[in-house]
Amino acid sequence: MLHKLIRRKSERQNQSLAERISLSKKEQIPGHIAIIMDGNGRWAKKRALPRIAGHHEGMKTVRKVTLLANELGVKVLTVYAFSTENWKRPKLEVDFLMRLPEEFLGTYLPELIEKNVRVVMMGENDTLPRHTQEAVRKAMIATKDNTGLVLNFALNYGSRAEIAHAMQTIALQVKEGKLDPSDINENLISEHLMTCDLPEPDLLIRTSGEVRLSNFMLWQLAYTEFWFTDTLWPDFDDHCLLDAVESYQSRNRRYGGLKGEEKN
Ligand code: FPP
Repeated sequence: MLHKLIRRKSERQNQSLAERISLSKKEQIPGHIAIIMDGNGRWAKKRALPRIAGHHEGMKTVRKVTLLANELGVKVLTVYAFSTENWKRPKLEVDFLMRLPEEFLGTYLPELIEKNVRVVMMGENDTLPRHTQEAVRKAMIATKDNTGLVLNFALNYGSRAEIAHAMQTIALQVKEGKLDPSDINENLISEHLMTCDLPEPDLLIRTSGEVRLSNFMLWQLAYTEFWFTDTLWPDFDDHCLLDAVESYQSRNRRYGGLKGEEKN
């Protein structure tokens, strides 16, 4: 196994991007990739630029990763663009981050439409500024019939709040006699989360060397494969995404059970 991995790594170094893409596509592609895009601030600091310059560069990375994920045949790409905790940042930075969906969609929506990408969002919509809501709403409507990659923006998203809200909704249904407590099971809870229409992530990527979940998809990541890299999000390129996908392809997913040959 280790030999195989080392051989793959040295082979990869000599492969062109096109070769790597074509080889990856011959193996299992993760259906849903979720990304914690971290390191924008440090990217900017290294260049003596303001933090917002890092976020702006990070926005361009979202485009690149979306296009390659779509090309690979990934079904869903979830990107953590703003957490419920990010409101604690300086106003200037928050205001900038709230303008980014507009800029991203204003610039790239025609390309996303051409590539058959569907834009969706999960998070607390009502407390976003009007202009942010409007930009996302327009993109969701314009792409609603697209059948390619689903680009899911986690925007003003917090996983604990999401779970608490699901619990409130379920509790209310029990109170009204529409549900019995014995009806509450894992499927029912999943159906009340913001991801009810999406498959669970197969692969989670976090950039910038941080190794934590930061209140991201805590329920949905129960059996997800994790991949961490020191690369800062604005530097994350096609080769990085392929590294993550190839690592996923070498994993042995057991979901708590045993693989065929191990059962004997
Ligand atoms: C974390 O880096 C990143 C964020 C809080 C924002 C992520 C947003 C983007 C990548 C822009 C993409 C948005 C859209 C709508 C396309 P950090 O600022 O915490 O970095 P640091 O840890 O180096 O300070």
